[in-house]
Amino acid sequence: MALKDMKMLNLQRNERIDVNYIKGILQPAATCATWDEIWNFQAKPDDLLISTYPKAGTTWTQEIVDMIQNDGDVEKCKRAPIYIRFPFIEWIIPSLDSGLDQANAMPSPRTLKTHLPVQLLPPSFWEKGCKIIYVARNAKDNLVSYYHFQKMNAALPDPGTWEEYFEDFLDGKVCWGSWYDHVKGWWNAKDKYPILYLFYEDMKKHPKREIRKIMEFIGKNLDEEALDKITYHTSFDIMKKNPMSNYTSIPGEIMDHSVSPFMRKGSVGDWKNYFTVAQNERFDEDYKKKMMGTTLTFCSSL
Ligand code: A3P
Repeated sequence: MALKDMKMLNLQRNERIDVNYIKGILQPAATCATWDEIWNFQAKPDDLLISTYPKAGTTWTQEIVDMIQNDGDVEKCKRAPIYIRFPFIEWIIPSLDSGLDQANAMPSPRTLKTHLPVQLLPPSFWEKGCKIIYVARNAKDNLVSYYHFQKMNAALPDPGTWEEYFEDFLDGKVCWGSWYDHVKGWWNAKDKYPILYLFYEDMKKHPKREIRKIMEFIGKNLDEEALDKITYHTSFDIMKKNPMSNYTSIPGEIMDHSVSPFMRKGSVGDWKNYFTVAQNERFDEDYKKKMMGTTLTFCSSL
């Protein structure tokens, strides 16, 4: 979505978007209204897709990918805000520019963003064999990050109280649906399709190692010096200060960074500051049931 469109969205302070369901998954109403067009999006074989559940480290991964694609050239990566550099395919502002329009206008090779669960990904991505980078983040930190993001972002529903949001997240009653189904769905898909499945926590612990994995996956070959530079420029502290990656160029009526900055904490284990003992017990019990039978495992503290 271009900056002008953010302004055109014209939400008044405290006003929020409408939501609706697509095949049981909660989505912004405008995405639902444009669903046929999104579903029929035509991917190209050389498209690269960055896919995540919201707040799992999308922006971080986008910046890493852009820096790799631009051989570690910091200035080239400052050519535009992150949401202009990477079309967000299901993000729609009615009768204006949209992620689809942005993607269709972009010369190849394109790098696109989605939060769609695996069953809602436009089929042409599978048919064309596009490479996909999926990033997953442990559920507890993901929940805390999403809660703060919904508080500061009028382009998503009001999260309600912490207690209410906690239950909504466990029930999958948030935009883009259940975290549990999302991470498991993409985990299963990686056995059939060219998907690099990464974890936020690994990226925190071994950033250079994970950046190298991404580089190899997208077929680039950069030297150690370039990799060190990318590691530095995509660290939390540097990205937080970078206006092209920290979302401060979005008008305050949409994203109010005084409520919670987009680049909030960027850490592993922050959930411990929010979960009560009772919530943690309830969460763990529910988690076991929902994640039973999968080989997918997470770490929620480093
Ligand atoms: P927190 O709210 O926990 O701080 P997304 O880009 O998918 O919306 O994810 C946003 C989350 O990733 C936020 O988490 C944000 O601070 C964190 N993040 C962004 N850039 C990061 C970086 N370079 N290193 C670590 N975390 C980062």
